[in-house]
Amino acid sequence: MSLVIAITGGATGIGRAVALRMARSGCAVAICGRRRDRLDQAADEIRAVGGQALPVVADVTSAQDMERFVRATVEQYGRLDVMVCNAGYGLYGESEAIDSAQAIDMMHVNYFGTVNGASAALPVFKRQNAGHLFIVSSIVGKRGVPYMSAYSATKFAQVGFAECLRAELTGTPIHLSVVYPISTDTEFFSVMTGHSGFATRAMGPKQSADDVAKAIEKAIARPRPEIYPYKAARILALMNAVAPGLCDRLVRRWGRKPIPV
Ligand SMILES: NC(=O)c1ccc[n+]([C@@H]2O[C@H](COP(=O)([O-])OP(=O)(O)OC[C@H]3O[C@@H](n4cnc5c(N)ncnc54)[C@H](OP(=O)(O)O)[C@@H]3O)[C@@H](O)[C@H]2O)c1
Repeated sequence: MSLVIAITGGATGIGRAVALRMARSGCAVAICGRRRDRLDQAADEIRAVGGQALPVVADVTSAQDMERFVRATVEQYGRLDVMVCNAGYGLYGESEAIDSAQAIDMMHVNYFGTVNGASAALPVFKRQNAGHLFIVSSIVGKRGVPYMSAYSATKFAQVGFAECLRAELTGTPIHLSVVYPISTDTEFFSVMTGHSGFATRAMGPKQSADDVAKAIEKAIARPRPEIYPYKAARILALMNAVAPGLCDRLVRRWGRKPIPV
């Protein structure tokens, strides 16, 4: 597959796993994030597996940065086939105690960062008459869990945006897939502890970043509106639609009391 793929938050975790997997299958990869050292490190890893890498320092909260990221990708590789809006982080805590300034900052990254990435890629897709947008949400973008309300709201916001946009794009050659990972082994949890001031114990099922990347790779080959890299997570989403009260009791088990660090 010799596609051109751009990934926000592509230097670490899920984004890096997608970059490496797609590079191995012959794709040209562009990655962005705020830390130059991590981007350069990931770019070296991509080249080491035989891929082409374009690392770009860019902040998803800036529409200009996202336009620059997409422009640099198209200038380097001649087109853009896949855009993965992946950059994001979490915040943990009792719903009524979460600092609203922190919640707003997170909404800027997780939600508006997604909108900025999508808005930068869509004109290219429309010009090419082809393209595939991925939005990395979370299972908590389908069903909230205790102590994750502010984060969950950003993930539901991505889904609302995605569903409206997907309906606008229906019947065109542009695809949109929303990805719903469960708990994934990345730096996400240490970053969340840094923002929240609380550590959390790992509970519930887990998957690797490469499990998510594998599901995204499959959907690039065969586009689907919704992707559940951990298959049983779809059952939770379906169950919540018909029996939300039952789901409240079920997910309560995954609600960890914050542990001050
Ligand atoms: N890990 C999980 O359990 C899990 C579960 C469900 C969904 N997700 C979602 O998966 C996505 C990726 O998370 P991850 O697990 O791979 O965590 P991660 O390793 O911490 O990756 C997050 C990436 O986002 C980048 N980023 C953060 N703020 C940014 C900004 N303002 N502009 C540009 N890049 C920014 C970070 O790079 P810089 O800091 O260098 O900018 C980092 O590369 C997130 O949207 C997360 O919500 C994760």
